[in-house]
Amino acid sequence: MKNFNFSNKTEIIFGRGSERKLGKKTKAFSNKILLHYGGGSIKKYGVYDKVVDSLKESGVEFIELGGVKPNPRLSLVKEGIDICRKKDINFILAVGGGSVIDSAKAIAAGVSYDGDVWDFFDGKARPKEVLNIGVVLTIPAAGSETSAGTVVTKEEGWYKQSFGTDELRPKFAILNPETTFTLPPYQTAAGAVDIIAHVMERYFTKVSNVDLTDRLCEATLKTMIKNVPIVLENSEDYDARAEIMWAGTIAHNGLLGTGRIGDWASHNIEHELSAIYDVAHGAGLAVIFPAWMQYVYKQDINRFAQFATRVFGVEYDFNDPERTVIEGIRRLKSFFKSIGMPVTLEELGVEDNRFEEMATKCIEIYGDGLGSFMKLDKEDIIKIYELAK
Ligand code: NZQ
Ligand code: ZN
Repeated sequence: MKNFNFSNKTEIIFGRGSERKLGKKTKAFSNKILLHYGGGSIKKYGVYDKVVDSLKESGVEFIELGGVKPNPRLSLVKEGIDICRKKDINFILAVGGGSVIDSAKAIAAGVSYDGDVWDFFDGKARPKEVLNIGVVLTIPAAGSETSAGTVVTKEEGWYKQSFGTDELRPKFAILNPETTFTLPPYQTAAGAVDIIAHVMERYFTKVSNVDLTDRLCEATLKTMIKNVPIVLENSEDYDARAEIMWAGTIAHNGLLGTGRIGDWASHNIEHELSAIYDVAHGAGLAVIFPAWMQYVYKQDINRFAQFATRVFGVEYDFNDPERTVIEGIRRLKSFFKSIGMPVTLEELGVEDNRFEEMATKCIEIYGDGLGSFMKLDKEDIIKIYELAK
């Protein structure tokens, strides 16, 4: 196990009716806020009314900025920064999923910075002062409700990039599983794949003697595999929605990665897909992750065999452990398919071949030697896109 520091200061307010505490929680930070949200689902399904009622009840004044798109755009972030400066706002409430939260984080980082907020994403500067953020989560997926990171797309050139700092972690996050009843099956499944991927990015490590976090990862994965089919069958199953929502936070709040070195190549390879083709991040991962596994598993057959046996119940083949690994990858793909996710680029709707361009961008952004389980160069990345066809 590696040395580590672990701290996650986001307060989680979880369960039925938890959004009623929103006004009070927000008021503790500010009397005047930016209310940030997406394309309208919160208005359609009643979350907006509950949020507004609670804010009004506590006497919190709010200025609205909706319209965050999935794969959030830099132009709206800049609009948000402008509003916060002009209206002297020092707190942002993000109501929605990862895209809204990430947009809020980028605004929060940019308000007191004189230069272009994209400098943070390009690694040219680090934010010195960050506004406080609160969250009402409506889709378990990205884990941004407690994570230190933000991922934004710059329209000019379609660059999807991230940066992170502990100050970006929201001060509180309200998680009511009931708000996720209205998620369409595709969004539920794409979110689930993202959660699973956040665990697997940490699980596939070269660090040995990480028994506790191995088991925590496996438990989180098995919880997802059990509960996702239940909510796809009955979208209003509170208990199953609650398991998934909590798993989504646990998967990405840093705990499962303690003492380990995560990989993250699949995420970076996927970001090129969602940048160019605007696909859902989780759907892109359903295609890329199994291809990555197929490409790298020979680096550590035992770790992949452990995944296959413990997570998917594959019987260990003592004569040919590689068969155990391949069966594990097959079962993962078949699980993704069973929940309605694509497992090939073609199924994702990506039919042209821009592999060279995407791999070049990947190396440009993240540097040569992507990932850590196996260091990937441009040719490796192209081969993974090829495997995903
Ligand atoms: O925009 P609205 O109308 O609200 O609709 C959204 C959106 O279309 C809809 N939705 C959300 N809650 C709903 C709902 N529809 C019905 N009922 C509800 N309760 O779902 C759609 C997707 O929303 P989005 O926020 O894009 O989803 P997600 O949470 O998956 O976020 C994806 C973004 O997060 C980034 C991804 O790259 C992607 O840009 N990530 C952020 C991370 C982080 N900050 O730590 C880590 C992740 O690995 C990921 O990269
Ligand atoms: Zn992700």
